Amino acid sequence: MTYSDTIGVMDSGVGGLTILNELVKVLPSSKFIYFGDTQNLPYGCKSKDEILFFNKNILNFFLTLGVKDVVIACNTTSALTYEDLKKEFESKGLRIFPLIQSVAYDAAFGLNDGDCICVLSTAATAKSGKYASEIKKVNPSLRVVEIPCPGFTEIVENRLYDTKESHKAIEEKMKIALENGAKRIILGCTHYPYLLNLLSEFAPREIFFNPSKSLAKSVSAIIKNTDDKGDVEFYVTKNPEEFKNSGKMFFDIDKDVTCVKMPEFSRV
Ligand code: DGL
Repeated sequence: MTYSDTIGVMDSGVGGLTILNELVKVLPSSKFIYFGDTQNLPYGCKSKDEILFFNKNILNFFLTLGVKDVVIACNTTSALTYEDLKKEFESKGLRIFPLIQSVAYDAAFGLNDGDCICVLSTAATAKSGKYASEIKKVNPSLRVVEIPCPGFTEIVENRLYDTKESHKAIEEKMKIALENGAKRIILGCTHYPYLLNLLSEFAPREIFFNPSKSLAKSVSAIIKNTDDKGDVEFYVTKNPEEFKNSGKMFFDIDKDVTCVKMPEFSRV
């Protein structure tokens, strides 16, 4: 496989597979390389410095292979470090597609002035206020409530769907959304579509907005299909078999997942 026509897709773990799942539908002829930084997850409780360090390692890895396009299948990265990554890596020849910035229009579409949108996300994404600022560019009258959901990524990565603690945590966050009168609830972390069955015990499915289709649509507006045969390769930084098992719900990986070692973050 040569990589100059390959699209890199990155996340901390299996979350980005919810995006990849849509990307392969709209770009069936494309070659993808998926990178899950399982050694360093969850990103959502880390500092911007740490996340930037992890992100740069992944983009450098893509660059070494010759990849030219990268989809950030991670809200936390899109919220905290996209601008820095764009500045540094676009001049090196990478074209980067961010998540939140690409889906805000669709996320706000069809709502009435004054309506409330709640965003379930990692703590880092919620703290950044990125969903609110991007949605308000589309419609400043919308009320955006960002709800941090620490621990949700771990529920998905460790497949803890049936525990009392998971149900309690989900109920608690949904209560906040419903008390705020949410007309729409954004799954503002790519891990959360895995939780849709649990989340929809508290509200109808139609209320949830999963950004993956919108992101895939915006990527396919720029990258075109060809007659080539599509393919996906998978890389992680830890536990390839766990990655396969936890990711199954969105992507059935029927090949080897390569484990790569990345430099470790050290505070100086
Ligand atoms: N899936 C990522 C996101 O969309 C990161 C989750 C995490 O590692 O905390 O934010």
